[in-house]
Amino acid sequence: MWFVSLCIRILTWFFVSHSIECYVYGYFWHITDIHLDRNYSRNGNAKNGCHKKIEDIFAFNFTDNGVYGNFQCDTPEFLFNTTIQNMKDLHSRPDFIVWTGDNMPHSKNGFDMDTVYTEVGVITDLLIATMFYYLIKFTSLQGGFYSTLVSPGLRVIALNTILWLSENNENVRVKDPEEQFQWLETVLSNSIVNQEKVYITGHIPPGFYPRTTPKQKGIPMYHQHFVEHFQSIANNYSYVIIGQFYGHFHLDMFQIFEYKTGTSKGSAFIAPPVSPWHDDQSSYSLPVNPSVRLVRYFTESGGLLDYTQYYLDLDTANCRQKVIWGFNFKTDLLIPENAQSSTS
Ligand SMILES: *[C@@H]1O[C@H](CO)[C@@H](O)[C@H](O)[C@H]1NC(C)=O
Ligand SMILES: *[C@@H]1O[C@H](CO)[C@@H](O)[C@H](O)[C@H]1NC(C)=O
Ligand SMILES: *[C@@H]1O[C@H](CO)[C@@H](O)[C@H](O)[C@H]1NC(C)=O
Ligand SMILES: *[C@@H]1O[C@H](CO)[C@@H](O)[C@H](O)[C@H]1NC(C)=O
Ligand SMILES: [Zn+2]
Ligand SMILES: [Zn+2]
Repeated sequence: MWFVSLCIRILTWFFVSHSIECYVYGYFWHITDIHLDRNYSRNGNAKNGCHKKIEDIFAFNFTDNGVYGNFQCDTPEFLFNTTIQNMKDLHSRPDFIVWTGDNMPHSKNGFDMDTVYTEVGVITDLLIATMFYYLIKFTSLQGGFYSTLVSPGLRVIALNTILWLSENNENVRVKDPEEQFQWLETVLSNSIVNQEKVYITGHIPPGFYPRTTPKQKGIPMYHQHFVEHFQSIANNYSYVIIGQFYGHFHLDMFQIFEYKTGTSKGSAFIAPPVSPWHDDQSSYSLPVNPSVRLVRYFTESGGLLDYTQYYLDLDTANCRQKVIWGFNFKTDLLIPENAQSSTS
């Protein structure tokens, strides 16, 4: 009898542990702020984006900016290529890629649309050729926002955050630029009906610019009435929004949103950039090594599980002329509502 009882117990333990192991999880990459600069030159002027000018040829300066890039300049094609290759080596079959913008080099003069299309095309082609099978195609992209179902119960919303930007005064008197808020609410309420969970993605996160002199508040990213409207929607639909992903800050950070009631509802993950560029005009801006992030999530519920942060040690790579992609850290995403949604 004792033997039988033990057997049953072992069987029970086996089944219990088996059912715990049964969660199915998937992976997606989050890459951002590639700022590909195909005009990068190893002996260009670092004070001018590492660009070679006619004058520089006469100045005959042999300063080496590095084969992988320079913290004063944007991403050389070679760095971009090794980054994508590294992603392929680490995880070549992600379920999808969250790519949150800033693809052009930093420039005072801006670019015409033909140049933008060409450069974004170069990035897209290499992503597709190296590891991704297809690109989501839309016949109409009015307003520059869209949503797509990445698995039966998981929808990714791509916002056009430029419409709400505090630096953009074109829309400041418009209540709902391009009717993005109305669209967002419709998508979210449809998701409730269809029992989907939602990730929100965008280039520029809400909140304040995190790099400031001590005791100073950073500049707000969106105009006040837009951030209030966005937070009100995010608050009302916090049950379906189980993740938010942004770039732009060139920093590895997260945000927790606190609402007027004092409770925190929702969070955002902000990924560090591929570009090593930093604003060396400000004393408080530190450079960040080129980075990519691999996120693990529960395929069925969409609940976030953890992410692994990879980076290229730029100085060492330039010095040894060799790619050394480091493993930065792996973190559990211990944000309360994510923990909830991942177990429900
Ligand atoms: C590269 O440099 C050329 C010549 O100055 C310029 O016309 C072009 O716009 C630059 N392209 C990028 C992506 O910076
Ligand atoms: C050449 O390099 C020197 C030392 O780094 C620097 O002081 C000088 O400004 C550079 N000249 C140009 C034209 O970039
Ligand atoms: C980067 O990869 C593309 C596509 O494979 C290739 O055409 C290009 O020459 C590569 N550039 C560098 C600098 O390695
Ligand atoms: C969110 O819900 C509150 C309370 O029901 C409502 O007053 C508010 O208008 C809603 N916000 C939006 C943007 O729909
Ligand atoms: Zn950027
Ligand atoms: Zn940006």
